[in-house]
Amino acid sequence: MTPDESVVSSFKRAAAERAVDFIQSGMVVGLGTGSTAAFAVRKLAVLLAEGTLKDVVGVPTSRTTEALATSLGVPLTTLDVHPVVDLTIDGADEVAPDLSLIKGGGGALLREKIVAQASRREVIIVDAPKLSPRLGTKWPVPVEVLPFGWRSQSLFLESLGARVTVRLALDGAPFHTDQGNVVLDCDFGPINDAAALAARLDSRAGVMAHGLFLNLTTDLVVAGPDGITHRV
Ligand code: 5RP
Repeated sequence: MTPDESVVSSFKRAAAERAVDFIQSGMVVGLGTGSTAAFAVRKLAVLLAEGTLKDVVGVPTSRTTEALATSLGVPLTTLDVHPVVDLTIDGADEVAPDLSLIKGGGGALLREKIVAQASRREVIIVDAPKLSPRLGTKWPVPVEVLPFGWRSQSLFLESLGARVTVRLALDGAPFHTDQGNVVLDCDFGPINDAAALAARLDSRAGVMAHGLFLNLTTDLVVAGPDGITHRV
């Protein structure tokens, strides 16, 4: 880890641990995906193990998070058993001033959005460099598409103005989500009307999810060189 990465990692941890303060005993808690959310899962595990929190169950947003939580002894449940989530803690790739987000850098966007939409409170935890004047300035929009006809989806996304890159796994093969779908990373540049773009993507058959998370964030916890801020 470079010194810069180590500083960013300390911001991620600080934001995550602040957000875990919002969890109360007895809650159903959505467990996000990514390196920032993993800090929250680790802290939750410590609080459960020492008895500071009791009877908390987690809804993981990915197989990776499920494996982490299980390894740390965090009890898990599903949306089938608990269709309403009290509070979810998740990371993001880019955050606009109106708390709209780009998510999906870890490829868990579909499950993350399902859990976010089932949550009473969606707490987003980020390091300060992820704050952006406008979505699309720093990060492409991940679009999860069904493998059937995915090249057609790529052309469709290009017709909307995106430069499209097929996401690859570390071994160079196409990345597949937990659902077995393909991710197309779409660089639209700074996005003028995220709601209009989201509506176009939502109406396209074969698009299973996109990384524009609009009107879902209830709380934002940001950690940076000036400390930790909490916005609602
Ligand atoms: C996964 C996500 C992550 O929350 C997002 O990519 C942030 O990741 P990290 O905390 O590792 O920076 O949306 O699909």
